[in-house]
Amino acid sequence: EGEVYKYYADGEWKLSSSGKSVSIVNPTTRKTQYKVQACTQEEVNKVMETAKVAQKSWAKTPLWKRAELLHKAAAILKEHKAPIAEALVKEIAKPAKDAVTEVVRSGDLISYCAEEGVRLLGQGAFLVSDSFPGNERTKYCLTSKIPLGVVLAIPPFNYPVNLAVSKIGPALIAGNSLVLKPPTQGAVACLHMVHCFQLAGFPKGLISCITGKGSEIGDFLTMHPGVNCISFTGGDTGIAISKKAGMIPLQMELGGKDACIVLEDADLDLVAANIIKGGFSYSGQRCTAVKVILVIESVADSLVEKVKAKVAKLTVGPPEDDCDITPVVSESSANFIEGLVMDAKQKGATFCQEYKREGNLIWPLLLDHVRPDMRIAWEEPFGPVLPVIRIGSVEEGIHHCNASNFGLQGCVFTKDINKAMLISDAMETGTVQINSAPARGPDHFPFQGIKDSGIGSQGITNSINMMTKVKSTVINLP
Ligand code: G3H
Repeated sequence: EGEVYKYYADGEWKLSSSGKSVSIVNPTTRKTQYKVQACTQEEVNKVMETAKVAQKSWAKTPLWKRAELLHKAAAILKEHKAPIAEALVKEIAKPAKDAVTEVVRSGDLISYCAEEGVRLLGQGAFLVSDSFPGNERTKYCLTSKIPLGVVLAIPPFNYPVNLAVSKIGPALIAGNSLVLKPPTQGAVACLHMVHCFQLAGFPKGLISCITGKGSEIGDFLTMHPGVNCISFTGGDTGIAISKKAGMIPLQMELGGKDACIVLEDADLDLVAANIIKGGFSYSGQRCTAVKVILVIESVADSLVEKVKAKVAKLTVGPPEDDCDITPVVSESSANFIEGLVMDAKQKGATFCQEYKREGNLIWPLLLDHVRPDMRIAWEEPFGPVLPVIRIGSVEEGIHHCNASNFGLQGCVFTKDINKAMLISDAMETGTVQINSAPARGPDHFPFQGIKDSGIGSQGITNSINMMTKVKSTVINLP
């Protein structure tokens, strides 16, 4: 039961010597859809070794040639969008249309990395010594950016392809090699994507994709001495990784509890449309989803009515039918979401719709009159459940937002740009969107979280910079 996939190492597709596999359960049917190799620590060692060797010659490959290969991979990826999108539908229940969009966006991201890389890395700096007190003009400093070595990329289940290439593209253009550890759900989509890099003709060993159980190879990979940089997107695991990792650059994007602050003068139709898009697309399984609405009391009734009307129009069902709301990724995720809903019920939240669940499918739910003593006020459901907290003042909203242990993004709706700017300054998050829902894209924008939401900044330019090191040569004149 379930088609078996090999892992990719040293330019070849291989079966693990463990003889074991990991099952990927389709969230919709709740049956095994695919199986991937349960790789061993020995296989991880081999992958690290080949990645190290391949990187050395890749770093010497001219930048324009590296860019050319990335453009080729981008084109091939777009040509292969159908099988990749199908895997996304079956593994993570992403609505069919969104699955295709993810692949196309990923192709664009790779091309953009190639273009940005040739510009950014084609330049260095030239400094002279006599600007610093006490120095004559006897030292010339030349700088350039050099690769870090082997980059370990760990993307999450919700954008397995896009958040893999957002690490692969910058790493490769900058002259690094890359080891990809895909999430179990999303692994087959990643393997199909890696196949596109193989078809583009990247040297063997430069990119590999190792699958397996986190419990067996997770720590082994992240603590491996051969890893020179980790780029991780996901949940709490990221906190554990950053505590255990060695002295290497880390890029972490973890959870969020993105707040949507709504002022009295806001365009409520615009707000409602953004709450639907921000809160319910991919059934709320986005780190940047709107996860709490903080609305000024005087406009709360009217906003809740508008959102309710739009929630009623959301289609609920299988991803193959392109429904808006599809089953959440796993039964344990559905159980966790249900736990938050039951807690809110017990503590007296107002249910704008009836709570309904079938298997992993949870109907969209808006919870009004949520109070800070409810878990849903603080925790991320990663599902189609959205709390509304009514606030008496903007300060109260900012206070709630800043009391969170997360600080990814937030948004504010008002027609007063001065107020919006002041609120943006006051919100302790990596990004604040004015009059739109939080979002990572466009993919060249900086993307970062503070507090438990992450380390470092992503976005194409920042990721390329982060995956390089400055190297200086100083010419000393007599
Ligand atoms: O889940 C986390 C993603 O980085 C969010 O990306 O804003 O494009 O949905 P998105």
